[in-house]
Amino acid sequence: MKAKKILVTGGAGYIGAHTAVELINAGYDVAIVDNLSRSDKRLLEGIEKITGKPVKFFEGDCRDRNFLLKVFQSEGPFSCVLHFAAYKAVGESVEKPLLYYENNLNSTIALVEIMIKCGVTDFIFSSSCTVYGQPDQIPVSEAAPFKKAESPYGATKQMSERILEDVSRNNIRIITLRYFNPIGAHPSALIGEIPLGTPNNLVPFITQTAVGVREKLTVFGNDYNTADGTCIRDYIHVVDLATAHVKAMEYLSQQRETKFYEVFNVGTGIGVSVLELINRFKAVNNVELNYEIGSRRSGDIEKVFADPSKAMSSLGWAAKFTIDDSLLHAWQWEKKIRDK
Ligand code: NAD
Ligand code: WQD
Repeated sequence: MKAKKILVTGGAGYIGAHTAVELINAGYDVAIVDNLSRSDKRLLEGIEKITGKPVKFFEGDCRDRNFLLKVFQSEGPFSCVLHFAAYKAVGESVEKPLLYYENNLNSTIALVEIMIKCGVTDFIFSSSCTVYGQPDQIPVSEAAPFKKAESPYGATKQMSERILEDVSRNNIRIITLRYFNPIGAHPSALIGEIPLGTPNNLVPFITQTAVGVREKLTVFGNDYNTADGTCIRDYIHVVDLATAHVKAMEYLSQQRETKFYEVFNVGTGIGVSVLELINRFKAVNNVELNYEIGSRRSGDIEKVFADPSKAMSSLGWAAKFTIDDSLLHAWQWEKKIRDK
């Protein structure tokens, strides 16, 4: 039987690259589209090294309908489109809101338009736990209401979800995955996260500090209402997140309905504080970390972690890697890209 063809947008980025690997290893025929605006070609090379197969890569923009149409016509018909391409830096989105609304919304709209034109029905969307804001109940389930988005980035995810739910009435079948905090790297250390400029996220900041690229990590506040006073998050290994996409795609393909929209949390269900994470990083990797306690970062949520039971029961998915695995793999990747 011929392998099913899958389109991965943003596949030269962090999560897309890991998902492309899991898809190729599961026997799918993957085409990657990326405009390389926020990526590093080393990830495409890494995908090839891990899978032992050449990557089908098409450089172009998801807002460019002519480009998309050509890819759909030459590489399709696609069984499913996995849409990772987006800008994701929360702080930058506050500085440049139009850049975020324009890219994140228009790329999604253009992609769905071309899917409809080409008769492709199945779509998986990368959303974020940021849509929940500070939830009233923790662990947070998919049924929790959206809070006012803390940033234009968060607003693009809320708006995209709304657009996609509406579009699913036009015979498109959609699964939205709300990721909690993706961390770590492939256990081979051949792909991982390469932040552009100063990292916004905690784990790349930790690894860059430990490796000597940054002088010091600042812990943003230790006066929260948590056991050690620092914020709590649900950190999920990027390979577990990638396998959730394969499961979601297979679940979607088994549905008989022509109109379909469902949302799943993708998290571990375990809350970890910033200080706990720092201490695990030091212990697992046997390295020191220069850090200080600073003031709170504006817009930070005190405490959030997932109720992942829906993904577990419907998709048959569960996180397999531990927080220690994630921190080990993140560190191995950091050392690899610094050639240490
Ligand atoms: P990333 O920046 O590493 O990857 C995104 C990729 O999309 C990049 O390679 C970039 O070049 C590409 N891209 C951006 N705009 C494009 C466009 N218009 N056309 C073509 N390519 C374009 O980000 P990531 O961490 O892999 O995130 C993937 C998705 O997951 C994003 O939608 C992001 O919002 C979402 N997400 C990420 C996190 C996280 O913490 N990393 C958490 C929740 C959700
Ligand atoms: C984690 C914790 C910080 C850096 C962001 C986006 C969210 C989603 C995931 C895309 C917090 C603390 C951090 C530092 C610190 N992305 N921290 N010092 O804020 O949970 O979520 O990434 O969808 O939308 O908002 O992740 O990694 O930035 O922070 O103390 O230098 O680490 O305060 O408690 P966050 P993060």
